[in-house]
Amino acid sequence: MIETRLRIEPIQGCGALVKDVDLARLGDAEVGDLRQALFDHGLLVFREQSLTPEQHIALAERIAPIDVNRFFPAAPGYPVIAKVEKTAQQTTNIGGGWHTDHSYDAEPAMGSVLVARDLPPAGGDTLFADLYAAYDTLDAETKAEIAGLRAVHGSDHVFGEKGAYAQTDQPELAKGGVETPETVHPVVITHPGSGKSVLYVNPSFTLRFEGRTREESLPLLMKLYAHAIDQSRVSTLVWAPGTVAIWDNRCTWHFARNDYHGHYRLMHRITLAGCALEAA
Ligand code: OGA
Ligand code: MN
Repeated sequence: MIETRLRIEPIQGCGALVKDVDLARLGDAEVGDLRQALFDHGLLVFREQSLTPEQHIALAERIAPIDVNRFFPAAPGYPVIAKVEKTAQQTTNIGGGWHTDHSYDAEPAMGSVLVARDLPPAGGDTLFADLYAAYDTLDAETKAEIAGLRAVHGSDHVFGEKGAYAQTDQPELAKGGVETPETVHPVVITHPGSGKSVLYVNPSFTLRFEGRTREESLPLLMKLYAHAIDQSRVSTLVWAPGTVAIWDNRCTWHFARNDYHGHYRLMHRITLAGCALEAA
């Protein structure tokens, strides 16, 4: 049987829409194409899917082994599915600042597969930024300034006992006793799937450049961050029932808008395992 290839339409700013595909019934060749498209575009959006949790897990496992997030509560009955939830009573959402998932790990997650389960009547969009483009469009001077640098990443200030979530009405995300050691990654990595150079620092988990204090690091970090979220390199995903997004954590950032207070929002996330990152 000849397997169909993917129909891909780039999204202005970041990512691509994949049309005419049923994620529960992909052929092997299509899974290979999907992985390559993910590495190339950073974000793939699929509409009108109807994945059961079992099909969500099966899809993730065909792309890469699952990396279970140690901070998020699991969906009931599905220990490998993280619940990304905000109730009508809560004011803090999850992922409401620019970040990429798991950069605090020595082998950061390669990607995430997010399925919309329960959406507010309006709002709750997710923004995505293209970090390939961010690197490519840096001026030569800045590229020279960051060449060879490494940066320290951590999670305790976000998920630790005294971290940011502990002060909010999502305190169950703050995990005492599972503090993680800081980890170091090159500031410019070679993407393991595409071979392209990527800017690999992010506002949520990058603490400082190796060998410099946070204060010494902040001016350059802030300059890189402001460049990365230029509107020309950002897209907005407006979720609808049945929308599935798969993103590559090495070459994109994302930001969950928190503009739907008083309404419930539930997403199911499966995180895909990655590898140690090499300097470009
Ligand atoms: C995540 C995340 C964004 C959202 O699942 O990693 O940041 O829009 N979610 O829910
Ligand atoms: Mn996230």
